[in-house]
Amino acid sequence: LRVAELTREAGNCVLLTLVHARDGTLPPSEAGAHIGLHLPNGMERQYSLLHAAAEPESYRIAVKLDPAGRGGSRYLVERVSVGDVIEADPPRNNFPLREDADTSVLIAGGIGITPIMPMIEVLDAGQKAWTLHYAARTRSEAPFIEALQGDPRVRLHFDDQMGGVLGIAEIVNSAPPKAHLYCCGPGPMLAAFEAAAREARVPPDQAHVEYFTPKFARSTDGGFSVVLARTGGEVRPVKGQSILDALRAHGLELASSCEEGICGACETRVLEGIPDHRDAILTERERQENKTMFICCSGSKTERLVLDL
Ligand code: FES
Repeated sequence: LRVAELTREAGNCVLLTLVHARDGTLPPSEAGAHIGLHLPNGMERQYSLLHAAAEPESYRIAVKLDPAGRGGSRYLVERVSVGDVIEADPPRNNFPLREDADTSVLIAGGIGITPIMPMIEVLDAGQKAWTLHYAARTRSEAPFIEALQGDPRVRLHFDDQMGGVLGIAEIVNSAPPKAHLYCCGPGPMLAAFEAAAREARVPPDQAHVEYFTPKFARSTDGGFSVVLARTGGEVRPVKGQSILDALRAHGLELASSCEEGICGACETRVLEGIPDHRDAILTERERQENKTMFICCSGSKTERLVLDL
C-alpha cells in the first residue's frame, strides 16, 4: 500500500490514507476489520479500518503514538511520509458487526474507537438503532471527538472530568435484552466488559470484544507433540518455543503477523486434542468447541495435538 494522505487527529494520532501501490483493486473492508502492516523497521502491527466498503478505493487507519510501545506506532506517527510504500496483509475481521441486530451498544476507549467508526456508518446505512459510550482520559485524547460530539446517541465520558473511569457494568446491565454489545479499548476496560457481560448473562454471541494487546501470556512450555495430518511428521515444541516456532524450525512456512494472539493470521484447524487457548480472538463457545486454534500463542492441554497442516 502507498501512503496517499497523512493528517493529524486529536490524541497524538495520525490518520493515514493508504491506496494500492500499483493501482490495483483493494480487497473489501468490513466494519470491524483490520489490516496488518509490515513496517520497514521489521515490526508487524494491526490497525482497524475506519470505513467499510465492498470496493474500497483506499483504506484509512488511525495510529496513536504509544510512547511506551515497541516502536510500531512511533514509526507510523513520526517517520512515515506521503508516498511511502508499506507491505500489508489483506483485511481480516475478528470483530464483525451483526448488521441485522435491531439495537447495538457500542463501547469504546480512546483509540479503541477506530473499529467502532465503520460500525456506526453501517448501522446508520441500515437504519438500525445504536448508542455509543465513548471514554477517554481527557477530551484532548479522544480521536474523532469533533465528528461524534453533539449526536444524541453518543455519550462521552472523560475520566478527568468525571473523576473516574466509565461504569461498564451499568451500561451492560441497562442494555436491551436482544442488543448486540461491542467493546474495544484498553485491557482493563475489556476485562470489565467481559466480567459485566458474564455477570449480566449476556449470551456470548451478543457480546463482542476486540483486543489490541495480548490477553494471556503465550504458551511456551512445550511438553506435548504436534502431529501434522496433511504433510506428515510430528514435532515437539521445546521450552521457550510456541507451536509456530517449533513448526518453523521443522521447516514449515506458515503465515503469521502479530504472534501475540490478536490478529488471527495463524489460525489452524484442530483435528484431535485439546488446545490451551491463549488468544484474544475466540469466543467462549469457540474455545470449548476446540475446532480451531492460534498456533503463535496457544499450546496443548493434551499430550498430543493433531493439526490440519
Ligand atoms: S499471528 Fe496473530 S494471532 Fe497468531
